Amino acid sequence: MNSNTIVGVIGSGAMGAGIAQVAAMAGHKVVLYDTNAAALEKAKTSLSAVLQKLQEKGKLANAEDVLARFTFAGEVSAFANCGLIIEAIVEKLEIKKSVFAEVEGIVSDDCVLASNTSSLSITSIAAACKNPSRVLGLHFFNPAPLMALVEIIPAVQTDEALVPAAKTLMEQWGKVPVITKDTPGFIVNRVARPFYSEAIRIMEEGIADKATIDWAMTELGGFRMGPFTLMDYIGHDVNYVVTETVFTSFFFDPRYKPSFSQKRLLEAGWLGRKSGRGFYSYAEGTAHPEPTKDNILGNEIKERILALLINEAVDALHLNIASAKDLDLAMTKGVNYPKGLLQWCNEWGADKCLAKLDGLYNDYHEDRYRASILLRRIVAGERQLL
Ligand code: NAI
Repeated sequence: MNSNTIVGVIGSGAMGAGIAQVAAMAGHKVVLYDTNAAALEKAKTSLSAVLQKLQEKGKLANAEDVLARFTFAGEVSAFANCGLIIEAIVEKLEIKKSVFAEVEGIVSDDCVLASNTSSLSITSIAAACKNPSRVLGLHFFNPAPLMALVEIIPAVQTDEALVPAAKTLMEQWGKVPVITKDTPGFIVNRVARPFYSEAIRIMEEGIADKATIDWAMTELGGFRMGPFTLMDYIGHDVNYVVTETVFTSFFFDPRYKPSFSQKRLLEAGWLGRKSGRGFYSYAEGTAHPEPTKDNILGNEIKERILALLINEAVDALHLNIASAKDLDLAMTKGVNYPKGLLQWCNEWGADKCLAKLDGLYNDYHEDRYRASILLRRIVAGERQLL
């Protein structure tokens, strides 16, 4: 893979169109394929508008040059000369598998096949191919042109040489690549779970209302958005489903247990901003609820959620899901956390974080609050974190 590689993108939805834009702006010829002609047309129109806007802002020399690198295709045969294919279609394993098998029959033997899946196993997608060693995960974040992070996920079968090659290519595309094991949620969607689930738990128990929790995490925690505002923004059809998928994929580990509060929102069709109502109402003229700006309560909330987040990051390090550096990069570049969770652990003090977790565990006697053995070893002085 190099700058002359023709990049094929399967699926011209939110992610596919964004990834295609990134590749074309990095100088590649791009074939964007979708089975839905209307979706392809929409992507063409919006790509043209976005590129024009970038040119007007002086961020792109010539939008027409970039547009000229695109082929919009309704037939998979258009991928014949591609050296890299990135799939971004519907999140259904059986459909992805059949598309990978179909595409493999069209491309050359050395074409690399990547999936942008958020939650499916790359190994199981690779297993659909005759040559699974050419398959890996390239997980971009939404919106792909703006979010720097790309998680690179080798499957069990992936040729080892592909990983550094993919890393170099992503850097050439201006991205920040991290390497992660093929486990549920990869880095970001695994480590971030408590940001949502513990916030909901605190609300369900009546410790604080959602506006107060959002205030604590933004004002005291430094996060860009509070958990309830963020879940409404992402949409409960996406955020709840990721939580449920991570939970079931982890063989029902209680640490990832979804909540009924969020499931009911999904069932009610209260999907968040996009449907006008989620945890909050977005109807015209609706006042946003006021938080209780109590610093003692706010710090309690912040420390409880933060302790669980840090525990996830430390445990991911313990299980070699990614390096310490990549774990911190992933959370700052993929979901804009104010700092990496391992760095945060060091600054706050691993002993304080462990004391918080053990306090919760002693109160609740729930496995949800069990501390990672690595955190204990760090506090005992047996290991360094960074
Ligand atoms: P989307 O629904 O916006 O777009 C999917 C597109 O794929 C549609 O245009 C559809 O017509 C097309 N498509 C469906 N089946 C096809 C097939 N067999 N062949 C060719 N085209 C087909 O979906 P979105 O949000 O872009 O997600 C795509 C993938 O990216 C999913 O795997 C998702 O999990 C992943 N992803 C999504 C993120 C997000 O925030 N939306 C973030 C990171 C990954």
